[in-house]
Amino acid sequence: MTDTRDEALKQLMDDFHASIDADRRLFRVDIRGSIAYARGLVRIGVLTADEGHVIEKALGEIEGEIESGAYALTRDLEDIHMAVEKRLIEKVGPVGGKLHTGRSRNDQNATDERLYLREVVDDVSGRIRDCQAALLGLAERTVDVVFPGYTHLQQAQPIRFAHYALSLLFGLQRDRERLADCRKRINVMPLGAGAMAGSAFPIDRAFLADELGFDGISPNSIDAVSDRDFNVEFLAACTTLMIRISRACEDLVIWSSTEFGYVTQHPRLATGSSIMPQKKNPDAAELLRGKTGRVVGSLVSLVTILKGLPHTYNKDMQDEKEPLFDAIDTVTVALTVFTAIWETLEVRGGRVEENMDDAMLSTDLADYLTRCGVPFREGHGIVAALVEEALNRGCSLRDLPLELYRQYSEHFDEAVIAGLRFDDSADKRALPGGTGRKPIEQQIEQAREILARG
Ligand code: ARG
Repeated sequence: MTDTRDEALKQLMDDFHASIDADRRLFRVDIRGSIAYARGLVRIGVLTADEGHVIEKALGEIEGEIESGAYALTRDLEDIHMAVEKRLIEKVGPVGGKLHTGRSRNDQNATDERLYLREVVDDVSGRIRDCQAALLGLAERTVDVVFPGYTHLQQAQPIRFAHYALSLLFGLQRDRERLADCRKRINVMPLGAGAMAGSAFPIDRAFLADELGFDGISPNSIDAVSDRDFNVEFLAACTTLMIRISRACEDLVIWSSTEFGYVTQHPRLATGSSIMPQKKNPDAAELLRGKTGRVVGSLVSLVTILKGLPHTYNKDMQDEKEPLFDAIDTVTVALTVFTAIWETLEVRGGRVEENMDDAMLSTDLADYLTRCGVPFREGHGIVAALVEEALNRGCSLRDLPLELYRQYSEHFDEAVIAGLRFDDSADKRALPGGTGRKPIEQQIEQAREILARG
């Protein structure tokens, strides 16, 4: 009876505390870390050169076995570190048990996470760059597409569509900068911190850091095994990125609606309805908007797990891996889909033009009066009244009679009214950063330089 209960509890706990399902994806970096560590042990004489060689060779084979599935990572193995060590001892005998000398899973795990995340950061950053390249291409082909710029989702001022595409590109550049900055703090090696007090063996930490491509070593072993800031920073950077993606996707959902009809998404990125034959839903954009919630959720999970944890390592920290990895997978695929959207987006210039309200030229009319010496606030009032008139008559600003304009201000003449054009309005915004042709060309040049840098 007691034996059965004991067995049942063991089974329960094995299943409950095993992290191998999540951390199997760390097997390569775990083995890489162990190979470096074996070399470190040879340098201080804990392993002979021969033993080091045998262990290194076996670790290489284990990597292949895990890769091919020949060595199955089952729950009873607990975690990736135990799994690799167990197989090592199976293969090389008791000498394999020397590898963990002066090392703890606490510093080993922190090292693995950093090695892994470093690769992820580089990959995500590369994907953001691909997306920037797609946006640059889109900007280059839409310099002449005049488009309504919105505030409060009300038509505000005319812009060039390229201006919008570039706005995303520059935002994505900040996301890359955030990742690059976070990478600096990821790339610090905890190995040698041991369980938390440091190692009693004279391991050459600088040598290990060099072997593993770290920029330096952690300055304090308590901090080294407690610290998960780098995961938080990474997820915060991913959250910022996803929030950006979700906002752009919302623009696309709006612009592809029946009422707007400004853009058409590639038919492969939209799907039909099972009942309504006419439907072409902007699923890709909607899903990206939704996936943002998952990444935000991962960040919240992570900080909640960490909140109030006593120093140093606590098993709670193991549970960070699932939300972290889920966010990585989500961001990775999200960027690929987001890029495909921009690569294939069609802007329906004709439809956009039809829908543009010339009240968007009001600012230009007020600016004109200002140039004639009318104080801007007064000009603003005059044009607001004219817009109101147009609204009451159900006509456009351009179609109001000249006499009416002149009742409001003697400065108005035919040329001014005739000159109310969206592209001219855009080109008046000629300062750097604006929507005029010249600043747009400058921004395209700036974007090209960013991409040329890597
Ligand atoms: N599987 C653990 C994790 O992922 C590794 C560290 C465990 N250390 C320990 N002393 N139990 O966090």
